[in-house]
Amino acid sequence: MMNDWAGLPANYSDVLRRAMESLFRTFENFSEGTFIVDADARVVWINKRYAARFGFADPQQAIGRDCEAVIPNSLMREVVKTGKPILLDILETDREPLVVTRLPLKDESGATVGAVGFALFDELKALTPLFSHYSRLQQELIATRQSLAQARRAKYTFASFVGTSAASLEVKRQGRRAAQVDSPVLLLGETGTGKELLAHAIHGASGRANQPLVTVNVAAIPDTLLEVEFFGAAPGAYTGADRKGRVGKFELANHGTLFLDEVGDMPLPLQGKLLRVLQDNEFEPLGSNRIVRADVRIIAATSADLPALVAAGRFRADLFYRLNVLTIQAPPLRERLADIESLAYAMLEDLSTRVHGGAHFELQEDALRLLCSHAWPGNVRELRNTLERAVMLSDSERIDADALAPFISPLQGGGRSAVTMPFAPGSAVSPAAAANALGSTDARFEAAQRGAEASAPSSWAEAMAGFEKRFLSEALRANGGRVIEAAAQIGMGRATLYKKIAAYGIEV
Ligand SMILES: Nc1ncnc2c1ncn2[C@@H]1O[C@H](COP(=O)(O)OP(=O)(O)OP(=O)(O)O)[C@@H](O)[C@H]1O
Ligand SMILES: [Mg+2]
Repeated sequence: MMNDWAGLPANYSDVLRRAMESLFRTFENFSEGTFIVDADARVVWINKRYAARFGFADPQQAIGRDCEAVIPNSLMREVVKTGKPILLDILETDREPLVVTRLPLKDESGATVGAVGFALFDELKALTPLFSHYSRLQQELIATRQSLAQARRAKYTFASFVGTSAASLEVKRQGRRAAQVDSPVLLLGETGTGKELLAHAIHGASGRANQPLVTVNVAAIPDTLLEVEFFGAAPGAYTGADRKGRVGKFELANHGTLFLDEVGDMPLPLQGKLLRVLQDNEFEPLGSNRIVRADVRIIAATSADLPALVAAGRFRADLFYRLNVLTIQAPPLRERLADIESLAYAMLEDLSTRVHGGAHFELQEDALRLLCSHAWPGNVRELRNTLERAVMLSDSERIDADALAPFISPLQGGGRSAVTMPFAPGSAVSPAAAANALGSTDARFEAAQRGAEASAPSSWAEAMAGFEKRFLSEALRANGGRVIEAAAQIGMGRATLYKKIAAYGIEV
């Protein structure tokens, strides 16, 4: 017999037989127990020690019995039936568990004629280092997953959405209803109206609450990186890619919720890809040929006028209809003046515990009137910023109109130009919104504001705000009113710029 392996004896089958015999003997010697069954899983041989362990003083008493009658929980019948080995398993017994190996025995034609089982260790002690290493890793994995899940859990609940006006109650009702189902939710509303808060609340009240809530802020990520952000990339898939590749937000959100914030800013090519993923529930990370299935609930939000973007061809109509299954319109603050007092007190309480050592702030009548007379283009966020600044500079816990006035719209040109929303890039002032805002404006206060505007700034905050408004207006003018270009030129995120445009009432 030819052989290119130097030193191998010519009688190959003899070596094989010896190997098998010595393998069996080695196992038999070192194992705590060995037994053999026939094709019907009946015991044909069992060593003394093993038989004794299961209560048979003489191994002969076990012969001919079903394997399960001798060794409870034995899986030898499965091995005989399938012809497949069970290489490593743990057999629970009424004493310590045993680590076992089960191998089929075959005849020359390959038919299974029986099986042999070895109990390798009397106890798991010999495997202790391996087991403790394994269980430590397992514990670490559980802890890491838990802390990650904590970070991805909803930050707000419906209780965090302050407001008992009819409009707020309706929003919360719709939100709770949306939490009961799995279809996409579209949150619309001006900046600062609580869309992000609602997204968290809906996820937190849904059946996916214990799964991740993953956010992608479309406006904050450069277009070129968005696809990878969404779908991930195989290692080395693109220049500058992480060597290890990258898991996309879609995959991270699996079984949970994906919150697409500022969805109106999504570039058109990516809109097409997103639509396909929403239809097929699967995608391929960049540069991989791996198909990832994702079970993800979508909540999208935008402060842009999405139907107008669709009409202008800047947002795909098919994607819009796909997202627009359940739509919740977060009302602007000026349309729910009844909420201002409770919102202001909730914010003052928060500021008091976090910043002002438990102070008891109180709003005077005139302060409340002032708050209710403002158009709040930046909505709840602007209200919060205003209160934060006022209490920071106030010496008293009693907040009156004088303490607030310097921080309320010092620059809003007395009304109409203050209400330039919805402020999708290039969108026009909504006459209805403007009229509405003016309707709720206290004429006396407006006059006072106009008077104040003409005079020199009375505080540093006012002066800085004045400077910022002029600076941003100038940058916008220099870029022909194009927000994205202006933002790039002055090194500001476009979402931030949009918010400032709204807050200052800059017309674009
Ligand atoms: N009803 C509310 N009750 C309490 N806090 C609120 C409420 N609505 C909004 N807020 C607070 O106002 C701030 C702005 O809210 P949020 O970020 O949810 O607004 P948004 O609609 O996502 O705004 P943008 O379009 O600018 O992203 C947050 O600090 C939020 O906690
Ligand atoms: Mg938001």
